[in-house]
Amino acid sequence: MSSFFAVLFVVAAVVLVFGLVRKIIQYAKTPAPLKIATTPAPVTQSGVVLRLFREVVFFESLFKSTKWTWIFGWIFHLGLFLVLLRHLRYFMDPVWLPVELIQPFGIYGGMAMVVGLAGLFARRLFVDRVRYISAPSDYLWLVLLILIGLSGLMMKFVAHTDVVMVKQFFIGLYSMHIGELPPDFPLIMHLLLVVVLMLLFPFSKLLHVPGIFFSPSRNQVDNPREKRHLAPWAKAMEEQQN
Ligand code: HEM
Ligand code: HEM
Repeated sequence: MSSFFAVLFVVAAVVLVFGLVRKIIQYAKTPAPLKIATTPAPVTQSGVVLRLFREVVFFESLFKSTKWTWIFGWIFHLGLFLVLLRHLRYFMDPVWLPVELIQPFGIYGGMAMVVGLAGLFARRLFVDRVRYISAPSDYLWLVLLILIGLSGLMMKFVAHTDVVMVKQFFIGLYSMHIGELPPDFPLIMHLLLVVVLMLLFPFSKLLHVPGIFFSPSRNQVDNPREKRHLAPWAKAMEEQQN
């Protein structure tokens, strides 16, 4: 079983990394022919950096549009962030001090994550206009993340697993050494679901993670009068004609 998981994780990591790199290259190459910054928009480059920061950290535009989605969405993402920071301890030795300090908060992060996800699920189920535009995959992502969260919390509060063995297994993979995983049901579920998440990430709506940084409505400076906007390919065509 441990060898099976070792192969699964190596394949999933390769798919995740190469899939993301491929997408990021594609996003970076996609022309933005028009000035379409959503106004009011910053008029300087540093203003754009600040805008993106507020968007990524506080979900500013979502806050302005719908408070319920914002509150559940933000709780989920903040919880997830703490959880992922807490998990870094399985992948490094020695463990960085900030990762050590975050440990107790990571557990609350796990609970917050599941509460936020449950709220987002209820929204898709009970808000008519949201249910109308929800595809099966919208529900499935929420279910997948809820199950990852619940199986994780189960290990913390109901049926402990040997976290030292888990850590040794993952650190061992760096040098292609296959260690033993504890044969505990919640851990096996947790890890299988995480593999599914990693494999699907680069082909799914989770691409909003790199995507937000390439969104023209958010990353453009509002200066169309001061500076003529020309996409690189349009510039090349203009030069050819001259
Ligand atoms: C830079 C990091 C991230 C940012 C800024 C971000 C931002 C957002 C925002 C603004 C929404 C929109 C809510 C809406 O309009 O309906 C959203 C939805 C979502 N995000 Fe993220 N996200 C990030 C990372 C992640 C990660 C790492 C995951 C999962 C592994 C994730 C999973 C989701 C899911 C499943 C939804 C859909 C929730 C629903 O059903 O409405 N996000 N994200
Ligand atoms: C290879 C990757 C992962 C491994 C090896 C792993 C392993 C573990 C282990 C051993 C625990 C139990 C902690 C304890 O008993 O103290 C746990 C808990 C948890 N995991 Fe994961 N996990 C992984 C990925 C993820 C991901 C991607 C998510 C979220 C999408 C996640 C969410 C959680 C949550 C919410 C908990 C409960 C709270 C906590 O203890 O932090 N895990 N995980």
